[in-house]
Amino acid sequence: MKISKRDTVFIVIVAIVITFLTLGAKERTTKAVPDDAIHDKATSREQCMACHGADGVKPQPLGHPKANQCFQCHKQPDHWVGGTVKTK
Ligand code: HEC
Ligand code: HEC
Repeated sequence: MKISKRDTVFIVIVAIVITFLTLGAKERTTKAVPDDAIHDKATSREQCMACHGADGVKPQPLGHPKANQCFQCHKQPDHWVGGTVKTK
């Protein structure tokens, strides 16, 4: 197969797009849930929101997503009691 000038341009564009997607994904990482005594034992959204609701000690920032699955975006603590992966 002969690689034409057009193919080269196409390959370069694909490489640039992949680079930007990779960098973008890195920038979007959210803060992990702290692996401390409080967070290891909080197992319901109600518990999280008691402290992270608008009147809590550390409210979520303005415009925070309304989503409930906290660990989908904030990494679950390594010693979380509700965890299924590590039991010890
Ligand atoms: C008893 C109060 C309390 C409960 C319950 C609680 N948190 Fe927190 N959380 C805090 C405080 C205070 C901080 C800030 C100080 C710190 O980093 O430890 C914090 C920090 C955080 C942070 C930000 C960490 C950072 O680097 O800034 C995240 C994310 C978080 N909590 C998520 C959660 C989730 C998810 C739950 C439920 C599983 C939860 N918290 C339950 C008090 C609480
Ligand atoms: C759809 C993704 C998503 C979900 C689900 C989510 N968060 Fe967040 N959260 C974010 C983003 C994005 C930020 C702001 C940027 C960052 O933390 O790096 C943030 C920030 C926070 C902060 C402030 C951290 C700091 O120190 O500035 C707290 C506290 C927090 N979230 C708690 C929660 C709790 C509690 C839940 C579950 C009820 C939850 N989040 C669910 C995306 C999410």
